[in-house]
Amino acid sequence: MPLPRRKLLGVLFCSVILAGCKHEGLNRTETTTAANGTASEISVWPALPPALPADPALEARISGLMAQMSIEEKVGQLIQAEIKYTTPEDVRKYHLGSVLNGGGTYPDNNKFATPQDWLALSAAFFAASMDTSDGGVAIPIIWGSDAVHGHNNIVGATLFPHNIGLGAARDPDLIRRIGVATAREVAVTGIGWTFAPTVAVVRDDRWGRTYESYSEDPAVVQAYAEAMVKGLQGEKSDSDFLRGEHLVATAKHFVGDGGTMRGIDRGDNQVSESELAKVHGAGYLGALPAGVQTVMASFNSWRGEPLHGHSYLLTDVLKGQLGFDGFVVGDWNGHRFVPGCTVDSCAAAINAGLDMFMVPSDWKTLYENTLAQARRGEIRPERLDDAVRRILRVKIRAGLFERQRPLAGRSGVLGSAEHRAVAREAVRKSLVLLKNNNNLLPLSPAQSVLVAGDGAHNLSKQTGGWTISWQGTGNTREDFPGATTIFEGIQALVKAAGGEVVLSARGEFDSTTFTHGGRPDVAIVVFGEEPYAEWHGDLASLEYQLGSNSDLALLQALRKQGIPVVSIFLSGRPLWVNRELNASDAFVAAWLPGSEGAGVADVLFTGPEGGRPYGFSGTLPFSWPHYVHQTVLNPYHPDYEPLFPLGYGLRDGAESLVSNTLTEEGDTYPDGALEDAWLMVSRPRAPWKLLIVEEQQVPVAVAGNRSSSGPDTNITVAAIDRESQEDARQIRWKGLRPGAVWLAAERPQDLSHYLKERAALILDVRVDRKPEHPVRAGIACGPDCAAELPLQTALAKLQPGSWSTLSIDLQCFAAEGADFSRVSGALSIASEGALELAVANVKYVPGAADRAVISCGG
Ligand code: BGC
Ligand code: BGC
Repeated sequence: MPLPRRKLLGVLFCSVILAGCKHEGLNRTETTTAANGTASEISVWPALPPALPADPALEARISGLMAQMSIEEKVGQLIQAEIKYTTPEDVRKYHLGSVLNGGGTYPDNNKFATPQDWLALSAAFFAASMDTSDGGVAIPIIWGSDAVHGHNNIVGATLFPHNIGLGAARDPDLIRRIGVATAREVAVTGIGWTFAPTVAVVRDDRWGRTYESYSEDPAVVQAYAEAMVKGLQGEKSDSDFLRGEHLVATAKHFVGDGGTMRGIDRGDNQVSESELAKVHGAGYLGALPAGVQTVMASFNSWRGEPLHGHSYLLTDVLKGQLGFDGFVVGDWNGHRFVPGCTVDSCAAAINAGLDMFMVPSDWKTLYENTLAQARRGEIRPERLDDAVRRILRVKIRAGLFERQRPLAGRSGVLGSAEHRAVAREAVRKSLVLLKNNNNLLPLSPAQSVLVAGDGAHNLSKQTGGWTISWQGTGNTREDFPGATTIFEGIQALVKAAGGEVVLSARGEFDSTTFTHGGRPDVAIVVFGEEPYAEWHGDLASLEYQLGSNSDLALLQALRKQGIPVVSIFLSGRPLWVNRELNASDAFVAAWLPGSEGAGVADVLFTGPEGGRPYGFSGTLPFSWPHYVHQTVLNPYHPDYEPLFPLGYGLRDGAESLVSNTLTEEGDTYPDGALEDAWLMVSRPRAPWKLLIVEEQQVPVAVAGNRSSSGPDTNITVAAIDRESQEDARQIRWKGLRPGAVWLAAERPQDLSHYLKERAALILDVRVDRKPEHPVRAGIACGPDCAAELPLQTALAKLQPGSWSTLSIDLQCFAAEGADFSRVSGALSIASEGALELAVANVKYVPGAADRAVISCGG
């Protein structure tokens, strides 16, 4: 029987893309903290004395320099431009205060630029800044780089475990030594400043930057912040503080970055001021007394007010109460979020207490505008002078005028054996043993070992984001000279002990694989998250592998053959892995260990003579969820029921009490815990993806910032800026054929709770070209199930060219046959003719059905 036409697109979509759909749960919730503080409780912040004693000689030197500087030169100091968009000639001409290299930027755009290339560029910038041929004052430039887990933008550097793994070690002295090693490697390239450490205290683990945080425990973050700053900068009392082999460090991102609602990167933190101070401020209480010289303002806002323009927090709290006398640098164009500001004009940020703009590409117009604002007094003269004084103070303290760089150009220091040994120690200490039934671990190396999983021999998965490229993607084996994969470490150890080891990512073997002709004695399966950075890593759900079951299937297949299974889980955060735990005899959280994968084998196996040189010592830096909805989970929480609590970690020989029958239902909700489901915020949130689906055409997955369907580009989806960078999508239908754009998931999601909780589908739309043909909104629920509603009239009523909010009662879709227990397409917009729409912020909001614009009286 032919299907009614209006169901066609949905069904087509399902059968083409969702072959083999399976019922799975998608759910999440969070508990919000009561926001009842007011922005005047400065006493909730401790009063800290300045970290360094007042130095009249230093201040006099600064005054002497400033007396000779023109207003142009002063404004130049406030600008930090990116090396892709700046030349030494620009630095000379505009007297720029700083440059940075963003993640994935290299001299001459060459990924394989040598340490000498980096050094030559930094020397050229330095020389330009000291050039006084135009009659100006010589002020050395400062170059900042994100050396956040080693000097991670440079091929060949030692890559330490990401911060979350270090948190498991609970070893501040190790952190200090990592700081020392990192500073040494950065110094080789002539760079004097790192944007580290991140001292975020994470609340919602769906945040894409969770791995940049040491722990959800403020005390761990505080101790580590202090240790890392001391390692990077040296001890305040030492003569080589900030000099020689040391760098200038940054405590970031001030403040509250780890506490945004729903873990949305760059979002709003709504906690009380006392929680802001006690939880999110903890890292600064470690970093500031240790003498950290710079603080980076955060992208997030606090109760709706962006930090880049927050004069109370930047000036009264940080520079006043907390005694900070260094300078505040902005984050990547972060000033544009301040009300009234744009990327190239923002007096308000400087007036609020920002000292240096991070303005990668648009620095020239920002410079011109800032200069005009300074001349007009829109930027207060004493504020301009204070910002310049702070920048010069740090530059003088760091010895930049003398440019003493004993390690510059000593390429042997980069990735040296000594530094790799520290990283390998850190890997050993970062491993957290979650399950070890029948004391399977440690393993004897003198046996036959099958190493499986796509993470076993995969340096990208091992090193994660902020590795050579910004997202940590696009790297191959050649990009990691000197590194070892987890497999290579196992292989070396097992071979040396006379055992046998075989690598098969898919866990395959036959009677010829091992010399004994039989099954392996044990399988070690390494799997986990793909690399990501910043908001690209934000998740809608903590469920691991929402989009597929491949790792679970691998574990189960090995188990079925009677092979004991050790899982090594690579991830930037705790994820809901009950199914994978059930299918493993032993389970190790290995986080993102970095370049020294061999550290994993050190702990998995006994020593060559049966001894145990290294045991498991890692303890959880984050609580591990028992249920998918436990996205905010920490001991300060009233209903704290983790699967594994903060600080958990089995030791050798300990009895493991983990059952093999943990709940495998993802969709268990306590009453009233259902939160808004954000399907698209800036970008689709996993597991949802944007697809263009047309009759007679292969569906197109929307990738990057522009995708089209068909040779005639009938439908185009482009990323556009609404309030911030690429936070909306514009969809254009030429109308050559009917077609739709879908927010789709590979595996159907159980959203039936939303129907029960009387939710509405809500989205922001702007009609850029009026619909003259039928338009429909749809839901798909597997290969044989779809529902559509007419949308043309509702769209035609909206004010063209301006944003409106559209809401549809989910009940209307249900009445048309949608089964919300298996949603494979959470929203489609199908048009039969030409149409242009911009769309942003798509979500299911519980309880909103009654207020929905499109209701169905049900
Ligand atoms: C990040 C910072 C980083 C900066 C420079 C920003 O997007 O938020 O952590 O230091 O870029 O790469
Ligand atoms: C840069 C990163 C930066 C990010 C912020 C990227 O292009 O490489 O360093 O953090 O943009 O948007």
